[in-house]
Amino acid sequence: MSLYSRRFEILNIMDYFIQNIVSLLKEKTHLPGEEIERLIEIPPDFKMGDYAFPCYILSKTLKKAPNIIATELSRTLQTFINENTPESPFLKRGLREITEVKAVGPYVNFSVDKATLSEIALKTIYEEHDEYGNKNIGKGKTVVIDFSSPNIAKHLAVHHLRSALIGNAIRHIYKALGYTCVGINHLGDWGTQFGQLIVAYKKWGNENAHTSYTVTDLNNLYVKFHQEAEKNPGLEDEARAWFKKLESGDSEAKELWQHFKDISLKEFQKIYDLLGIHFDAFIGESFYNTMVEDTITRIKEKGLARVSEQALIVDLEPHNMPPCLLRKKDDTTLYATRDIAAAEYRKNTYNFDRMIYVVGSEQKLHFQQLFKVLELMGYEWANRCVHVDFGLMKFKDGKMSTRRGKVVLLEDLLTGAVERIRKIIEEKNPSLENKESVARDVGIGAVIFADLCTKRNKDVIFDWDEVLNFEGETGPYIQYTHARLCSILRKYGRPVTADIRFELLKEDEAIILIKNLGQFPSVILKAAEFYEPSLICNYLIDVCGHLNRFYNIHRVLSGDEELEKARILLVDATRQVVKNGLYVLGMQAPERM
Ligand code: ARG
Repeated sequence: MSLYSRRFEILNIMDYFIQNIVSLLKEKTHLPGEEIERLIEIPPDFKMGDYAFPCYILSKTLKKAPNIIATELSRTLQTFINENTPESPFLKRGLREITEVKAVGPYVNFSVDKATLSEIALKTIYEEHDEYGNKNIGKGKTVVIDFSSPNIAKHLAVHHLRSALIGNAIRHIYKALGYTCVGINHLGDWGTQFGQLIVAYKKWGNENAHTSYTVTDLNNLYVKFHQEAEKNPGLEDEARAWFKKLESGDSEAKELWQHFKDISLKEFQKIYDLLGIHFDAFIGESFYNTMVEDTITRIKEKGLARVSEQALIVDLEPHNMPPCLLRKKDDTTLYATRDIAAAEYRKNTYNFDRMIYVVGSEQKLHFQQLFKVLELMGYEWANRCVHVDFGLMKFKDGKMSTRRGKVVLLEDLLTGAVERIRKIIEEKNPSLENKESVARDVGIGAVIFADLCTKRNKDVIFDWDEVLNFEGETGPYIQYTHARLCSILRKYGRPVTADIRFELLKEDEAIILIKNLGQFPSVILKAAEFYEPSLICNYLIDVCGHLNRFYNIHRVLSGDEELEKARILLVDATRQVVKNGLYVLGMQAPERM
């Protein structure tokens, strides 16, 4: 699903040059403009040129090798530009600013005037500040994002944390593109397990103490249930009976269930607050209880449902998938049934343009089945549902393992990160104001960045020492770079202006950085297309790297007024881009650290 047919390597800000290069090439090659635009690339080293046009496409019609075409074409173009003097009224401004056209292998490479390039990039950032990177291509369109979605009466698991962080970033990314985003927490608050919990609670729970119950207590009841059920299989029947009661609205069952839900939500909310994550709606599976019957009727009417071993299924064998179970033999519904009903409900309620499920890779099959059933039901929007999957988070010290037994208390993970950062700050900068909130922003940020900077479908290896390092490719490093930029601006102490002599920003390190800053909008676009926040993390690492290389060689506060003004604008633009990037990832950008 492509948001944009165009190549993302193209710098958005630099459209200015591209359009002119395209029209020039169009005239000389007779290729369609769109085709040319799609083919234009950014050379890896700007010394080779700022834009490159690969000539392979012309070799068929011209019956020549691409290298030869590149040589000839570059000569023709260079001559054309030379002949039309800069004053020529026939030459558009952007063309005048092409300083060199040369062949590099099969490519025609274009170099543009660096002062103009800097002016366009830095002025855009200066004018758009917090909005820089935003677009309105999603205006009037809604994206539903189903994320985090933990199961009540259990602790929030690591994959719910990953889903929360990835989903939150995707939400910011789509918002930046102008989409209306609806973030839904699809709580796992329905299913046979609540029958089990009620049985366990009634048998072994402490009725008097239940008001002070925590999720740990509920979790222990589950464990107890499973231990006992091994010895006494009759318990499972009791549990099923209770769940059936719950499904048919029995008041005692409902009251207990609501109570378990409240306890769980309170604990989840604490973690979401720590992370700064909001949902537009907590609509759990239970919400669809009253709708599943109608959904099943529609599925039946389409002739899709059949009974197999007393259960109701949609046979997906023709699509090489196991059947989708709609109803068990005891008449109770399933996770998948509720997901089908939820999809219909969301389409009717939000009329989404796209629906994104941020759920671990282990549910790949579930979503393939779900989307297939929706398609078979005749919903054209089925192909606008996307499963954004992700790998596991593994802990290097082995203390926190997720899948088997040992529970990861995410609250401990997060407060642990804050605690460790607090200690580092205490050592490095004991006189810092707002130590508490900075420790929190940086500690939480460290966890967020560690999670997001790996390509999402890979497993994340969580190593405390690496995650909290101020010098590695980490959240604290990016935030620290941001704080340093703020500190330079404080030292400068005067207002930043975009009214500078752009030709003063001429060093290689400055140009590389400026081109990089100009790429931010297209990085956001690409991150949206691939649902990949890691692209933004890697981009920020690059920006900070380029900034530090610039800063290590060139003095910003040199005492030369004009030069200072120019370099300060670059510092401020970098600060702005880093801030906007952190925001999209769901991180804070403290000004002092
Ligand atoms: N509660 C589920 C789990 O923990 C995740 C739900 C994901 N969302 C959905 N619509 N199925 O595995």
